[in-house]
Amino acid sequence: MSKPRVLIVFFSRTGTTRVLATALAGVLSADVEEICDLSERRGALGYLRCVIDSWRKRRAEIVPAGLDPSQYDLVLVGTPVWAGAVSAPVRAYLLQHRSRFRHVGFFCTFGGLGAEAALEEMHSLAGKAPVAQCKVRAAEMQRGVATASFELFVGVLERHLAHYTALEWAC
Ligand SMILES: Cc1cc2nc3c(=O)[nH]c(=O)nc-3n(C[C@H](O)[C@H](O)[C@H](O)COP(=O)(O)O)c2cc1C
Repeated sequence: MSKPRVLIVFFSRTGTTRVLATALAGVLSADVEEICDLSERRGALGYLRCVIDSWRKRRAEIVPAGLDPSQYDLVLVGTPVWAGAVSAPVRAYLLQHRSRFRHVGFFCTFGGLGAEAALEEMHSLAGKAPVAQCKVRAAEMQRGVATASFELFVGVLERHLAHYTALEWAC
């Protein structure tokens, strides 16, 4: 029985989602892929570009992924919430790879509103229901990643990983 392979894919503009992704990778011994966005998103104009991309449900131009999600049993995708939606780079990634996921999980960081809508959008973009999902407020992240929702997320994922053999995951 081989150990299920886990990939964590995320985008982070200001580092919050990266902290969550890194903590998750440590706990789950996962490979990590950070999505590289080709648009300028720094400063006020960059912020505005993010908002407009979200309103228009645009997908960003991103650097092609280095790791193939079809080689993993479980892919966990993380995004910051932008204007109540998925970030444009993660939207692009999910649409590009939606036929290559076996099992997915989603996580997002946010200021206070719109996380549920962003998670629902991820489900629809991936074309698959997540085995688990998690939303963590940026303010909670500043106090450390050991939030109740993060611990719950990790617990559900660990139970899934423990109970599925490589054969079961392939079904
Ligand atoms: C353009 C933009 C729009 C945002 N819109 C929302 C929002 O609708 N709801 C919310 O709760 N937080 C919103 N935020 C806050 C981010 O989701 C939050 O700070 C997140 O943790 C940033 O993650 P990052 O540091 O990985 O980029 C927004 C941030 C940006 C830059």
